[in-house]
Amino acid sequence: MAQKIKKIGVMTSGGDAPGMNAAIRAVVRACAYYDVICLGFYRGYQGIIENDFIELQPRSVKNIINKGGTILKSARSGDFRTVEGRKKAYENLKENEVDAMVLIGGDGTFTGGLIFSNEFDIPVVGIPGTIDNDICGTQFTIGYDTALNTVVEAVDKIRDTASSHNRLFFVEVMGRDAGFIALNSGVGAGAEEILIPEEDNGLDKLLESLKRSKRSGKSSSIVVVAEGDKTGKSVFDLADYVKQHMPEYNSRVTVLGHLQRGGSPSCFDRVLASRLGVKAVEFLLDGQRDIMVGIENHEIISTEISTITKGKHDISRELLRIADILSI
Ligand code: F6P
Repeated sequence: MAQKIKKIGVMTSGGDAPGMNAAIRAVVRACAYYDVICLGFYRGYQGIIENDFIELQPRSVKNIINKGGTILKSARSGDFRTVEGRKKAYENLKENEVDAMVLIGGDGTFTGGLIFSNEFDIPVVGIPGTIDNDICGTQFTIGYDTALNTVVEAVDKIRDTASSHNRLFFVEVMGRDAGFIALNSGVGAGAEEILIPEEDNGLDKLLESLKRSKRSGKSSSIVVVAEGDKTGKSVFDLADYVKQHMPEYNSRVTVLGHLQRGGSPSCFDRVLASRLGVKAVEFLLDGQRDIMVGIENHEIISTEISTITKGKHDISRELLRIADILSI
């Protein structure tokens, strides 16, 4: 029988995402509800290694459901990649009598968590928090919906100035390895072209499409480019390439950057984070370990971390097709 869990640690790691605070709040309050002590570790794994933590009570997480960022701070710990670092982390958890950990983060966070759990027998449950939405085992990650709304709002504003000046805008959005933000915000903001890491159609297709847009009477256009897009070296190179081949276009580049990671979480992200946070605690108390909680068809599900870190969350081919049809 699994050992009774009396103390749970929680941390946020990797790139922050709006809704992480709502997830922390849910974990803390679920712990209190089930009479479990909750410790919050600062700066992800680094905080465990440095024994930097705080005991969290239900009132410690008041008024944070609406706040972007993470009250526990976030980091990508180099020390945790070493056996010595993980050993130190284990010793600190033992000293503080922490029985299990809730890890809020992305792929890298879960990979580290699984190695740690296998090496030192500390049960872990992951909660997917990243704006990139690139995690297998969940349809949506915490922060993705908010980031989409941020991008759409920004592109709407760019459209105003683009159409006033008859300009072509290249807008770079986040997504080093995944095109979820680019594809969905691109469709939502009515972009003419969407370039994502999962598809390499070459530069000719882009030129062809822009020429078609010109012929069809469009005076301004917006191209949304994921930062990990394979077509050009960077969004600036892409813009230069188009300028060389279509000098008639007056073009500009906007890189949205880290503003996509900030801001008050959307209602969707708050509710998702609340559901996942409570379930993460309940799974641990139920004796489950080394899983990630996620959402699939409105239901909260769990998936073994070992399968998540090997898999790939595919983008929607159907949405790509829709984007193509609508850019006519
Ligand atoms: O949060 C995910 C992500 O935003 C990626 O899309 C991006 O490439 C990366 O994080 C950048 O993060 P940082 O600047 O923190 O290294």
